[in-house]
Amino acid sequence: MCDGYTATLRPATDDDIETLVKWDCDPELAWLMGYERRSPEESRARMSRLMGDRNSVVMCIVGPGEQVVGDIVLTEIAWRSGQAELTVRIGDRGNWGKGLGQQAVRQMLDHAFNRLGLSRVYLRVCADNLRAIKCYLKCGFRREGAIKRTLVEGQEMRTVVLMTVESCEVESTVIAS
Ligand SMILES: CC(C)(COP(=O)(O)OP(=O)(O)OC[C@H]1O[C@@H](n2cnc3c(N)ncnc32)[C@H](O)[C@@H]1OP(=O)(O)O)[C@@H](O)C(=O)NCCC(=O)NCCS
Repeated sequence: MCDGYTATLRPATDDDIETLVKWDCDPELAWLMGYERRSPEESRARMSRLMGDRNSVVMCIVGPGEQVVGDIVLTEIAWRSGQAELTVRIGDRGNWGKGLGQQAVRQMLDHAFNRLGLSRVYLRVCADNLRAIKCYLKCGFRREGAIKRTLVEGQEMRTVVLMTVESCEVESTVIAS
């Protein structure tokens, strides 16, 4: 982790939507995250829907200088079975690889397990996204499987890795690192 690069989380508000929309429309981020680049209108509608959805949690990642540097989201929260899907992104390339992602993921896992009472968090990541995979492994996720599939119509197939972490696994991982 780089000195001084500390991340905290806070709930996203309507004032953050344009920042998140800008990242949603970024082709490199879309490629890394394995989705089709969204139009600003699609992105705005999606963000508003997620922020109002009781089965989702949308947090901003606040980095150096109190700047919003990324977002981290739990979706598909299944309250009875205690599971949810995680996605995370640091929007500006200059902030990649400095430990902000790991801090954000650990804090969101703490929120998921210790505040929301969930027991299992999973995610999907493209196999060629090595920075993301390393970040997730260091936060306690383990690989459960992989599938090769078309993510965006008209583009080549890509291998998608499924990773999971359970609440009982995370405490020791977080404390140990
Ligand atoms: C994925 C992401 C959230 C990770 O956050 P981050 O702050 O960049 O990552 P961190 O610095 O916390 O951890 C990354 C680790 O991978 C290492 N790393 C950096 N670049 C790497 C590369 N090209 N290959 C392998 N490892 C790499 C870092 O050194 C670090 O390991 P370390 O702690 O042992 O030094 C961020 O890079 C991002 O938002 N990327 C674009 C969007 C994206 O890919 N989202 C994930 C979709 S599943």
